[in-house]
Amino acid sequence: MKDHMHNNSEYRSTGCGQIDSTYAGKEVTMSGWVFRSRDHGGLIFCDLRDRTGVSQIVFSPDYGEAIHKTAHQLRAEYVIKITGDVCLRPEGTENPDILTGSVEVYVKALEILNRAEPLPFQLDQDIEIAEGNRLRYRYLDLRRPEMLKNIITRHKICKTVRDYLDGLGFLDIETPVLTKSTPEGARDYLVPSRMAPGCFYALPQSPQIFKQLLMVAGMERYYQIVRCFRDEDLRADRQPEFTQIDMEMSFVGVNDIINMVEGLVKKIFKEIRNEELVTPIERLAYSEAMERFGNDKPDMRFELELKDMADLASNSSFKVFLDALSSGGRVKGLLGKGMAGYSRRETDLLTAEAQSLGAKGLAWIKVKDGFDSPILKFFPEDVVRQMADRLQAAPGDMMLFVADKEPVVNDVLSRMRLDIAKKQNLIPSGDKFVWITEFPLFEWNEEDGRFQAIHHPFTSPTDEDIRLIMGGGDVDLSKLKSKAYDLVLNGSEIGGGSIRIHRPELQKEIFKLIGMAEAEAEERFGFLLDALKYGAPPHGGLAIGLDRLVMLMTGAQSIRDVIAFPKTQKASCPLSGAPSHVDKKQLRELYIRLNVPEPAPEL
Ligand code: AMO
Ligand code: AMP
Repeated sequence: MKDHMHNNSEYRSTGCGQIDSTYAGKEVTMSGWVFRSRDHGGLIFCDLRDRTGVSQIVFSPDYGEAIHKTAHQLRAEYVIKITGDVCLRPEGTENPDILTGSVEVYVKALEILNRAEPLPFQLDQDIEIAEGNRLRYRYLDLRRPEMLKNIITRHKICKTVRDYLDGLGFLDIETPVLTKSTPEGARDYLVPSRMAPGCFYALPQSPQIFKQLLMVAGMERYYQIVRCFRDEDLRADRQPEFTQIDMEMSFVGVNDIINMVEGLVKKIFKEIRNEELVTPIERLAYSEAMERFGNDKPDMRFELELKDMADLASNSSFKVFLDALSSGGRVKGLLGKGMAGYSRRETDLLTAEAQSLGAKGLAWIKVKDGFDSPILKFFPEDVVRQMADRLQAAPGDMMLFVADKEPVVNDVLSRMRLDIAKKQNLIPSGDKFVWITEFPLFEWNEEDGRFQAIHHPFTSPTDEDIRLIMGGGDVDLSKLKSKAYDLVLNGSEIGGGSIRIHRPELQKEIFKLIGMAEAEAEERFGFLLDALKYGAPPHGGLAIGLDRLVMLMTGAQSIRDVIAFPKTQKASCPLSGAPSHVDKKQLRELYIRLNVPEPAPEL
């Protein structure tokens, strides 16, 4: 990044990371933080750091007793201003890894701009710092070069996004944050209203409805880099507030959106990594992804595909497999590459892992000179051989099988697939995108005993299924397909979207199909249904999870490492202390009385 901010202020003539051998013999003024210092008796060496990088500065008694004395007081993270002469470093002391590594600055004038107390943790060491502490002192944590790098990459990605979309005529339009519940399926964060006692705003889980309203309004191309709020269980790649690159277009079909987004990620890869991303990106129908990988966000960097074993299993006398098949379940296999050497204890652990993921058990057959397994006696030898062929299992490998209802088999094996790839080092470097398309429109919700929209209820069915739905006959809700698509990168869902319903009669019909009474549909989404009546154009869009994208582009291990002020897994902020109690007066103004259960007494 071009960095013009450091020149010509009263504090600096150049940035600490910007001087190289061409500066030798010149005088510079620099300001920054004392990073490291080493007292070599006479000479004191410091690394002076600012956002642009680090310079070695030297305090020598030859440049005056006073400066040298002040230099003795310098401690880590003191803020100082220096003026000095740039010299080439003596031969053998250069550092070829950094731009400033061939020079050092002999200090002629030193001013301490601010002192710093001893820090709660060191910034210049690679030791693991407890994350609670990092978040409590986030402003210090962000001084670490690694964190600065992530923040800069995030900025560059946003800038690339804005440039790209601006070039295509997208308008950056803000949508409300104090709004009504949006339909993304997580729990809402609520904000009580003082003006309307007993009423609440919901913070948006996404701008979904508003961006559709903007299409009705004739804006045609909308985007926003926008904060979204979801009160859901947190994981390494989820935050309660996160950022979407949210986009919507009018007069487009699935291919138009996909092409536009491919252009965007291509540009991001070029700008950030100087890499040519090959497009078009592979597309997989949802049903094929589930069959081959067991989930709808497959990591495509390695193989280990799940294989159907029903035909072979039915030629065995293994009751576990036969029972699963006869009750409508599935038997699928997975290759445990290089795992034939697993001890009894290790296969027991693997079985326990499968069980903790929801399987009743895990069947395994090791491939050595022959086959080795406690269940071998149930299988004719040629059947085992065919299983090995299908899984491409060679001597040294292990075959793993799960028999159960289809969702359990897929879920367990897809997770084991990832675990095995990690454990056995089968994931090559590089990035693999894939589009998952043709999602089902609805999924069965066991808990509520009804169908619900997989994405959100504004997602358009395929043209064929629209005809079916509007035809008035019986429809099998489990078979309907949608014009929804997800973008997956290295096994992580980084974006999702769909073509929307733009006709009010179809939208009403969809609400009816998922058992939403007309009154409820009217109460929750009446304003969208109304808008669709007044000439809504065909439209569709997609939202990319910016935090996840930055995480993958920087190689950060946690989503928290790419957000300046993130929340913990418990959705709290150790820095500000949010969420916190509020005083009684505030609650009274909002007509709120608390009913918090007393914490259980500690034993
Ligand atoms: P969806 O719910 O798939 O779609 O969200 C889009 C993308 O946002 C990211 N994401 C998250 N990132 C971090 N923390 C979270 N808690 C979190 N939840 C989601 C994911 C996801 O792919 N309105 C639709 C988009 C559309 O249809 O245009 C929507 O919100 O990377
Ligand atoms: P059992 O007959 O229950 O003792 O199981 C025999 C073997 O089959 C054990 O190794 C189990 O872990 C395994 N097994 C049990 N249930 C399943 C299942 N649903 N799918 C795959 N393997 C199973």
